[in-house]
Amino acid sequence: MPSLKEFASACKQCIDDGGGPAEIRELVQQALSIQAINPKQVEIDEIVYRSEDLFIVSLAQPPHGETPIHDHGIWGVIGIAEGSEENIFFRQTDLGPVEVSRRMVNAGEAIILGPDVIHKIRNPCATGSLGLHVYGGDLPRGKRHMWHPATGERLLLEQSRFEGWCEELTAAGEANYGHLAQLAAPSAT
Ligand SMILES: [Fe+2]
Repeated sequence: MPSLKEFASACKQCIDDGGGPAEIRELVQQALSIQAINPKQVEIDEIVYRSEDLFIVSLAQPPHGETPIHDHGIWGVIGIAEGSEENIFFRQTDLGPVEVSRRMVNAGEAIILGPDVIHKIRNPCATGSLGLHVYGGDLPRGKRHMWHPATGERLLLEQSRFEGWCEELTAAGEANYGHLAQLAAPSAT
């Protein structure tokens, strides 16, 4: 599989042949080596492929990058080519979202997310991460939700507000990391 363009074609063929997330996961794992060898093959956060039944995006997370809690409404496959991405899973309750589990996805790994998954992702490292995200539908056109980082209120996902929260959470994570690094550093005296 020599290019991400051919990877996208293979994914589309797979879906057309009745394949689902398990088969797509296999293709993603093969494609991660392409992305890792040649990370500049696609631009950061570039949409690799988009149709009614398939959405493929190359996603980069900055150091300590973090998203708000959100859903997708369709199945997805997340593969990591470089760095790591921690997935924190939640369930919705009357009192708001409650964490149920965590899963670290390291370079070379790909996981399947069911259509009901509620999660947030964070990059625990001081270096960026790079990965391929594939969804079984046209993700940007679907009805999705995001949870307010401070109040836990469930809201319809609005992209600009979501991205603003990503920046705020990432800045807070970096500040926290800087504070911890300072505490761990040996005294200069
Ligand atoms: Fe997500």
